[in-house]
Amino acid sequence: MFFCCFRQCPDIAQKGVPLFCSFAGRPCRKRPTPRVAAFGGRGIAWVIPGCYNEVCYDTARRTAALPHTLYMKCKGDTGVKLFLDTANLEEIRQANEMGVICGVTTNPSLIAKEGRDFAQVVAEIASLVNGPISGEVKATTTDAAGMVAEGREISRIHANMVVKIPMTAEGLKATRILAAEGIACNVTLVFTANQALLAARAGAAFVSPFVGRLDDISTNGMELISTVAAIFDLHDIQTEIISASIRHPMHVTESALAGAHIATVPYKVLMDMCNHPLTAQGIEKFQQDYRKAFGE
Ligand code: E4P
Repeated sequence: MFFCCFRQCPDIAQKGVPLFCSFAGRPCRKRPTPRVAAFGGRGIAWVIPGCYNEVCYDTARRTAALPHTLYMKCKGDTGVKLFLDTANLEEIRQANEMGVICGVTTNPSLIAKEGRDFAQVVAEIASLVNGPISGEVKATTTDAAGMVAEGREISRIHANMVVKIPMTAEGLKATRILAAEGIACNVTLVFTANQALLAARAGAAFVSPFVGRLDDISTNGMELISTVAAIFDLHDIQTEIISASIRHPMHVTESALAGAHIATVPYKVLMDMCNHPLTAQGIEKFQQDYRKAFGE
């Protein structure tokens, strides 16, 4: 069972105060305690005893009537999770029906491949998958102010939207501002441990080190995942590591072993993980034996 870390909390929407932690869609009935001075003093963070993370609620956003998003990671929310790395709705539908994915990542190239309007595509994705959906700011937007403006727009599309931001100095500035507003950010195009550390310090909910693209240039991508995981673990950094640019099933296994919280996989890799020639052979043999004994 995969648990997702973003939940819409009806209690917050209705009463302004979370009554209990909605864990994997079910209330876990743990009562939160308030911690003030979150979001630069503009909001309140609610801490669920027994949970790793704070359940955050930005009181300022409530008055702005924006969607209420909870970011939480409960102790039971363990084990590597799988996101699908695509903007193709049919692939997402298929993977979602298998019950194995709990989030989706897109990027400008994946959106361009679909040839459809960005906001419409991500809204449709969010209606299919109940988990974090990463939508990236425009590839041509390079300044912090522009990314912040687009990030706010993206976050309004759906409560589960995560704003994907490129790992640049301007991107970090945008991440800091958006994170302070309670908007989850996924800092992407991460190729060093220091970049991951900077992203986490700026307030990113997720960092995306690109394994495959490092492998492509004869650098061990998986070592980066291990190093980032070790640093985050050592210093109790709560930012989740998304192992990205996954090219084959071994990348997924290795990401899990290296300590990634999430592997975001293309649909083809997901199917390659699913299939095995001995499984196919075994099914065929069972079918032959069954038919021999019982007919069709
Ligand atoms: C991550 O979120 C990116 O969308 C993706 O993993 C990039 O992968 P690629 O290197 O195969 O393009």
